[in-house]
Amino acid sequence: MRNLLILIVGIVAASSTTDAALKDAITNVAAPFQREIQKHIDTQKQFLGKLLNIDPDSQLSQLFPAIGQLTNLTKLKECYNPSIGDEEFNIFNNTIFDVIKTYYKVFPENFQLTKFGDKAKNLFQSTQEIGQYTVDCLLNPSEYQLGLTQLTDFSGSEYNSLLGAARNDLEDRLIVSNFRERPKPSNNESDDDDDNDGVSTGSGSSSSSDTTSGSSISRPTSKPRKPLGGIGIGLGRRKRQEVEVDPICFPKNTEPLPEKFDWRKMGKVTPARYQGSCGGCWAFASLAALESAYLIKGKTSNKNFDLSEQQLIACGRKDGCNGGTSVDAFNYILANNGVTDEGTMPFDAKKNNNCDKKKKKKRHARIKDYCLRGIYAKVDGKPEELTDQQIQYAIREYGPVYATLNADHIAVKHLKTGMYSNKKCSKQTNHAILVVGWDKKGWIIKNSWGKKWGDDGFFRMKRGSNMCGLNTYITFPIL
Ligand SMILES: *[C@@H]1O[C@H](CO)[C@@H](O)[C@H](O)[C@H]1NC(C)=O
Ligand SMILES: *[C@@H]1O[C@H](CO)[C@@H](O)[C@H](O)[C@H]1NC(C)=O
Ligand SMILES: *[C@@H]1O[C@H](CO)[C@@H](O)[C@H](O)[C@H]1NC(C)=O
Repeated sequence: MRNLLILIVGIVAASSTTDAALKDAITNVAAPFQREIQKHIDTQKQFLGKLLNIDPDSQLSQLFPAIGQLTNLTKLKECYNPSIGDEEFNIFNNTIFDVIKTYYKVFPENFQLTKFGDKAKNLFQSTQEIGQYTVDCLLNPSEYQLGLTQLTDFSGSEYNSLLGAARNDLEDRLIVSNFRERPKPSNNESDDDDDNDGVSTGSGSSSSSDTTSGSSISRPTSKPRKPLGGIGIGLGRRKRQEVEVDPICFPKNTEPLPEKFDWRKMGKVTPARYQGSCGGCWAFASLAALESAYLIKGKTSNKNFDLSEQQLIACGRKDGCNGGTSVDAFNYILANNGVTDEGTMPFDAKKNNNCDKKKKKKRHARIKDYCLRGIYAKVDGKPEELTDQQIQYAIREYGPVYATLNADHIAVKHLKTGMYSNKKCSKQTNHAILVVGWDKKGWIIKNSWGKKWGDDGFFRMKRGSNMCGLNTYITFPIL
């Protein structure tokens, strides 16, 4: 914009017009431009279309004057977190070109030459979202900070494809899965010739019982087994049969809860992983729960114990990057009599969806069973409505639990630090995460969007009001 003005001033001056004419010329050109900028701030959605018209050497502080004029960095940091990787970089104090350059220095894995135009647009759009939040938050203080994350250059649809925990068909699938008899776990190595065990063929388009009954979870040799939690339906029968949550899913320790509890402090939580642009959150959250359970029970002392999400995504469901549930994950692990580790089947789900029949039998972790509690389960004949306290008891007794939440709010994409909350958050959950503890006001949650999202891959979310549907249901393995 400065260049533009200099150019105009130059032309006007060269033609030796009066001061009044000069002023007039600047006003005439500058005013619509200023109005455009104002309009962009007001309507972020319309902004994208204008992107190519912006001078890449202009600073974001021109678009967000309220931030640009702020010299108190401490105040700014109450709303905006400038850390990326190990560095600090204030997007509002730099040119748009530098924001893009610096972003790909820190997130080189996101760089794709062929998509550079789209990615730059996404990045620019994201800076507008972060800027708008920052302006709002400076006026009305909020408790969390946004910034550049691993997902900042994802488009809206790329972001949505990450949220693979429950579309409608998956939610039905969760119930249908729970209706089924579960596979019987076996500790016998000779008993694993079956190729197709545990594969959920949920088609993604239909949720009818016929679709799901095409896959056989229970093997011919397995005895029918009562689910530990939830609503049951007999195999071959369509009639719903209510099954109460098994007593082993209720914690015995009901001593008063501590104000703060964090399994990370006890060294029982493995590092946050990165699900890439695959909707496999369900596999990541399920295995995060199992890895923690192994550490808690002393079955491994490896703080980087790393099980294979690839196996669940490739073998446990057809099109596992398109979504799944904890029931798919744990039923598969039961049927396969275990799950292998990351080294044996590394994560490359977008490129390779083949289930390796030899590798899947190199088992590194097993479960005896798992518990499902919440609205898909029944207690005293009614769907269980989980209170925070019940979830806290479960975390303290069994370890971190798989849960789901709604992650549609754009702030979640750019979340860095603080206590996330959103009064308008939908309770229709679509993203699986691991709840590893709590503090005075919030849940402590492990995500699977890499260590450069949130706070080392973790975040806190306000509790006490079923925020974003977190209390909908929980799942945890029984070793
Ligand atoms: C922006 O940069 C200037 C100097 O380059 C510095 O004085 C100022 O504190 C910075 N403001 C913020 C909010 O980072
Ligand atoms: C900067 O902001 C912080 C936090 O709002 C405030 O405590 C501090 O007094 C401010 N410093 C100045 C110099 O205004
Ligand atoms: C597995 O089953 C075979 C035959 O039923 C039995 O001989 C063997 O001891 C079992 N192995 C284990 C580890 O239980």
